[in-house]
Amino acid sequence: MTGNLSLSAAQALFDAQPGWLNTASYGLPPRTAWSAMQSGLDEWRHGRTSWEEWDSSTDRARRAFARLVGAADEDVSIGSAVSQQIGLVAAALPDGARVVAPDVEFGSNLFPYQVHASRGVDVRTPPLPALLDSIVDGVDLVAVSAVQSATGEVVDLAEVAARAHAVGAVVVVDATQATGWLPVGVEHVDALACAAYKWLCSPRGTSFLYVSPGLRERVRPLAAGWYSGEAVHESYYGPEVHLAHSARRFDLSPAWHCWVGAAPALELIEQVGVQVIHDHDVRLANRFRRGLGMPDSNSAIVSTRLPGAGERLAAAGIRAAERAGSLRVSFHLYSTDADVDAALTALS
Ligand SMILES: Cc1ncc(COP(=O)(O)O)c(C=O)c1O
Repeated sequence: MTGNLSLSAAQALFDAQPGWLNTASYGLPPRTAWSAMQSGLDEWRHGRTSWEEWDSSTDRARRAFARLVGAADEDVSIGSAVSQQIGLVAAALPDGARVVAPDVEFGSNLFPYQVHASRGVDVRTPPLPALLDSIVDGVDLVAVSAVQSATGEVVDLAEVAARAHAVGAVVVVDATQATGWLPVGVEHVDALACAAYKWLCSPRGTSFLYVSPGLRERVRPLAAGWYSGEAVHESYYGPEVHLAHSARRFDLSPAWHCWVGAAPALELIEQVGVQVIHDHDVRLANRFRRGLGMPDSNSAIVSTRLPGAGERLAAAGIRAAERAGSLRVSFHLYSTDADVDAALTALS
């Protein structure tokens, strides 16, 4: 499937208004996703179908995500938000466990551990450059984003995992700012969560959690419901609970119409290929960096301290973000050279 849609053919499926440099906040949908969602909403409005039609998109999206990260379908669960899914992993930590995460880690892969302080879960937050040195004997879990939300820094997951596994710690990765533009696989990690509404161009309310078969045994399906049943249609009522043996046991009941939009969006990313998207996104980011006299980097996200930049971009109709006191711009498959140049002109 990968590579059977050219980048330019994919770009023609987007309706981005020039100047959207904020995919790190939310990604834009391809027309295939938008239309599928509108049809689903119209069916809902008129009561034209049963929910099973919409729900078939949930497994389609799960399978597409599994292929994107090189996981087996049965190791991927679905939910609505990363924090909710990471919360399951955090609850599996024993009392007194030690967690290490970078200090600027996005809250969804940090706060779910911190809320267990009352049972002795101890969360250390070194600066990112000191992360590796902080993974020492006694650490139980390392939480880190594949790409940092605030700065766009790309983390070497193989290196982190090697260090973590050497001391017997599990590695929990948040790939929300990575999957879709950076090839990230699950080969080094024990759990990987990803919200699909950014680089996977999907509606808000769609997220994934990969859990390795080894870790799955230790995680309690705290939000178990009918949708986490082994046979969904036979799981509406009690008295007994028969949970799925696969990671579907962690599924949250799907926000149907969001998944109707997510499936075609994920499939489009897959058809173009993450490596092709990576090369395009990073090329634009580096065009922007060079325009500001910055050295090239390896990220689709650029963060820089430029006083007044936010106002100047906004005045030129360019939508970017300010994070941790810096301007943050981000480039995705629908971003263009003209977007970069308009931003540079506004900042010059
Ligand atoms: C790294 C990262 N993870 C997760 C999220 C979203 O988290 P949640 O789905 O818990 O709202 C964001 C949003 O900015 C993010 O940057």
